[in-house]
Amino acid sequence: MIQKPKGCNDIYGREAKIWKYVESIIDATMEKYNYNYIRTPIFESTELFHRGIGESTDIVTKETYDFVDRGGRKMTLRPEGTAGVCRSYVENKMYGDPNQPVKVYYNGTMYRYERPQSGRDRELTQFGMEVLGSDDPFTDAEVISLAVNIYKMLGLKEIKVNINTLGDKESRDMYRSALIDYFKPHIEELCEDCQTRLEKNPLRILDCKVDSDNELLKNAPKTIDYLNDFSRERFEQVKDYLDILQIKYEVNPNIVRGLDYYNHTVFEIEANVKGFGANNVLGGGGRYNHLCSEIGGPETPCIGFASGIGRLVMALELEEVKLPIVEDIDLFLMYVNEDEKKYALYLAQELRMSGFIVDTEYTGRSLKAQFKQADRLHAKYVAILNSEDLDNNEIKIRDNKTKEEEIISLDALIYYLDEKLNTGASDVTEDEIYSWEEHEENCDGDCGESCHCGHHHE
Ligand code: HAM
Repeated sequence: MIQKPKGCNDIYGREAKIWKYVESIIDATMEKYNYNYIRTPIFESTELFHRGIGESTDIVTKETYDFVDRGGRKMTLRPEGTAGVCRSYVENKMYGDPNQPVKVYYNGTMYRYERPQSGRDRELTQFGMEVLGSDDPFTDAEVISLAVNIYKMLGLKEIKVNINTLGDKESRDMYRSALIDYFKPHIEELCEDCQTRLEKNPLRILDCKVDSDNELLKNAPKTIDYLNDFSRERFEQVKDYLDILQIKYEVNPNIVRGLDYYNHTVFEIEANVKGFGANNVLGGGGRYNHLCSEIGGPETPCIGFASGIGRLVMALELEEVKLPIVEDIDLFLMYVNEDEKKYALYLAQELRMSGFIVDTEYTGRSLKAQFKQADRLHAKYVAILNSEDLDNNEIKIRDNKTKEEEIISLDALIYYLDEKLNTGASDVTEDEIYSWEEHEENCDGDCGESCHCGHHHE
């Protein structure tokens, strides 16, 4: 049997419904903050990621899915979304738009050749946002709070925000020298990769997966002790703004992030929930003021964040958050003979177009088996089509909970279901419900507010 590739997932059934719900909350919240959706390619030129994410990062050296296309071009499946968004910002000259900063969000699959384990996949889905064109610490606080608020809107309670700053270029250079001085005398104790990292990019020693438990790493100099005045003050401003937004955070000097493009604010949000394991980071981000210029565009101050949807869904399940997932249907249409089937086909379409969730029989089951199928689909109502009733312009409806049945006029079906299911006409009393024919007779074609039938008459 052909199996899915290692580190990939099939999302279906109830889990797929949770994903769709999570995505709907992401869309709705991003909209409130006026972030616009952006879609960039799933693969980009390899060079973009090498220049953007950094030649000596684990992502670029060990984790990219690279391929040469049929035209001989070197391509890479995107391992993250930020580099592609910056490429798009530069290529489409969005920096020329007077409407700065450009605030965008995305949601898509990313690819990293990692050792698969719980919460760490090779195909992962990330949502993220980027603000391009503002250096104001206000944006740092807003991006952090937006991330937190998405988690809160979804119902997660046990989250923890860790922030740190890497400072500006001057601060980072001072820090780099301090790291080299610190690690040089002990470099033999570290892995081979770290030995090459020492001169190339000593910061990357700090997120080495091999040496992560080594005391040397734990006691290494902290960025926060090497900040110049500007960087320190900037960090204070970010914290002030977070306080105004009532976002609780902890300054964690160990956060350096695994991508090279960051400066100033960096942050990670953890899920403090039992069973989430070592990968308890829900999402992370930070400021990256030089990435656009690094890939050939103008110097553009930016900040962003991304979060794995798989990990987020896992956190929701572990916290046992109750989600408004619709798992039942409004109506199941049953039939036996060909005439009834034809009517079911027509009626299902009518009802669906009127806004009801409707399913019907597709495999020629017996009536008894159709009742079972209606139960399996958690149908609230069942309509039993029967030629005789149809000839009389009637339909048998069964409340699938109470099992009570009644025969009603076909013309009243929509109003009947509307009232029973509270889908819009719930405030209409029995007396006010009148049949479609009556309504048409009485309506002057411009019924507006007085019409409770759910139709609009032009
Ligand atoms: P990142 O920390 O590499 O940052 O990834 C962000 C999030 O993506 C992680 O916290 C995690 O939730 C999820 N994630 C990453 N790798 C995996 C994996 N192998 N399996 C499952 N989930 C994973 C970035 O990607 C940056 N682009 C974030 C950013 C946006 N910085 C600025 N703007």
